[in-house]
Amino acid sequence: MAHRTVILGIESSCDDTSASVIIDGIKHANVIANQDVHQEYGGVVPELASREHQKNIIPVVDLALKKAGVTKKDLSAIAYTQGPGLMGSLIVGSSFAKSMSAGLGIPLIEINHMHGHILAHFIQEKDEKNDSPQFPFLCLTVSGGHTQIVKITDYFEFEILGETKDDAAGEAFDKVAKILGLPYPGGPLIDQHAKSGNPTAFQFGIAASNDYNFSFSGFKTSFLYTVQKGVDENPHFIEENLNDLCASAQHTIVSTLFKKLEAAAKNTEIREIAIAGGVSANSALRQTLEAHVNSHGWKVFVPKFEYCTDNAAMIAIAGYFKYLRKDFAALSSAPSARLHL
Ligand code: KG4
Ligand code: ZN
Repeated sequence: MAHRTVILGIESSCDDTSASVIIDGIKHANVIANQDVHQEYGGVVPELASREHQKNIIPVVDLALKKAGVTKKDLSAIAYTQGPGLMGSLIVGSSFAKSMSAGLGIPLIEINHMHGHILAHFIQEKDEKNDSPQFPFLCLTVSGGHTQIVKITDYFEFEILGETKDDAAGEAFDKVAKILGLPYPGGPLIDQHAKSGNPTAFQFGIAASNDYNFSFSGFKTSFLYTVQKGVDENPHFIEENLNDLCASAQHTIVSTLFKKLEAAAKNTEIREIAIAGGVSANSALRQTLEAHVNSHGWKVFVPKFEYCTDNAAMIAIAGYFKYLRKDFAALSSAPSARLHL
């Protein structure tokens, strides 16, 4: 047992409490406790999120160890999400990880959440070989808080080519959902309704720029005006057009993302293209990416659903690569709500 590298990963940056065990780069457990308490508020309530993490963290870690068939004594190191995220939520994970590392006398490893989303492409399963991207590759990282095009040249070497100037792609999905009266998080619901809608039924304005940066504020305003005007003319406008509104909004967001991603791929001459983060669970985004295999000669990498939204397996795999290079944190390590990649 001693020669195995057993990493416990802990993720608590937003509203999911998760623990994972990765042994020699292979996932043995990935337990995620979702928090339903936020749904009725139309967004994550930070104070409630911290309290839920506090309740969930011990049972979630216990279950991950049990599922992986290991005990605390088998652990080589503990990796935790240092940021970015909600401070109260991060503090729960970091305090837990630090105490456990001090108690067991094993190294502590700090992981940037966005970095975790990207390295999720290197998680291996017990019974199947996962085809991981080759360096250099481009990753479109799209979550509730971030939208970035990153050029990755090695596990820990990367360059942000472009990012959002205002809302993140996930935020754009969630705001559209809120305008339509759908509960939080709205992305998955928009995705569902869009399946039976016409993506070109409505046209929404989108800001144009010549770089690789994104902006969704113009789209959001345009979407809001369309809905307000529609409801003024017909009080049943939303229910009568729900699927078309969702499909058209989704189409606009996905096309905006691909316009920049295509330009970045063309100019860097990189054809290994990955997507990561919560919005990479979106079916239109995944289909559009797959279509680029034939139309643009891309080799594409789409994470399993389990690794798209927040999970600790991505933190544990990033921790595994840091462990191999002995990149450990001091016990004075502290969470950072605005940590940059
Ligand atoms: O990465 P993630 O789980 O958490 C953050 O780090 O932010 O991303 C959450 C975001 C939310 O905005 C959610 O609405 C969006 O991902 N999302 C989706 C889908 N599933 C999750 N957006 C569009 N389509 C989906 N299927
Ligand atoms: Zn995330």
